[in-house]
Amino acid sequence: MSTSNHITWHESAVTKAERQQRNQHRSVVIWFTGLSGSGKSTISVALEKALYQQQVHTYRLDGDNVRHGLNNNLGFSPEDRKENIRRIGEVSKLMVDAGLITITAFISPYQADRDEVRNLLDDQAFIEIYTSCSLATCESRDPKGLYQKARNGEIKGFTGINAPYEAPKNPEIIIDTEQETIETAVNQIIDYLKAHDYLGVNL
Ligand SMILES: Nc1ncnc2c1ncn2[C@@H]1O[C@H](COP(=O)(O)OP(=O)(O)OP(=O)(O)O)[C@@H](O)[C@H]1O
Ligand SMILES: [Mg+2]
Repeated sequence: MSTSNHITWHESAVTKAERQQRNQHRSVVIWFTGLSGSGKSTISVALEKALYQQQVHTYRLDGDNVRHGLNNNLGFSPEDRKENIRRIGEVSKLMVDAGLITITAFISPYQADRDEVRNLLDDQAFIEIYTSCSLATCESRDPKGLYQKARNGEIKGFTGINAPYEAPKNPEIIIDTEQETIETAVNQIIDYLKAHDYLGVNL
């Protein structure tokens, strides 16, 4: 919420619809959510590469990367996690306005925070993807050694260990990363985008 009454929106002379027309695809947020190690970053990187090769204009926002800069003043308390997601939601909205397919990879453990981002965007501009994977498998993958640190007490409030994760109630796409390969996951998402007219014609 703005703290100033003295600001006025100034319209651009180029619209989102015109940008989408030029790009030959719609712009949308593809929002990955899931436990640490469930595969959000891995699949989002592969998805972006595949879309790029199909001339799609994309940008990827990833948890650790955003925390290096824009959100480097935020920690992992529930309030900071909420603010982290709120800012990313606002940045995603700008990127959708810029005509990009915006791919985000954040644990984003709270349903309410994800719903706020959904509500910030136009209808059909938010695709929630749940990378479903058991805690046991995520912990055995432990690609960044974080579960080990959480178990040793070196990290407090780690999602799945001593902080909650709320699985999406109604995601557009579920990917079971214990069963699917990275390649089939990417194909599943691209099939969804094509079936729902995000790519190519019918803009
Ligand atoms: N089917 C699969 N899909 C995605 N990742 C897989 C799959 N099978 C194995 N993996 C492995 O699981 C790990 C997933 O790690 P990744 O960093 O993508 O998770 P993340 O969800 O982004 O976690 P974090 O929230 O900590 O950033 C990688 O080491 C990846 O190679
Ligand atoms: Mg990641």
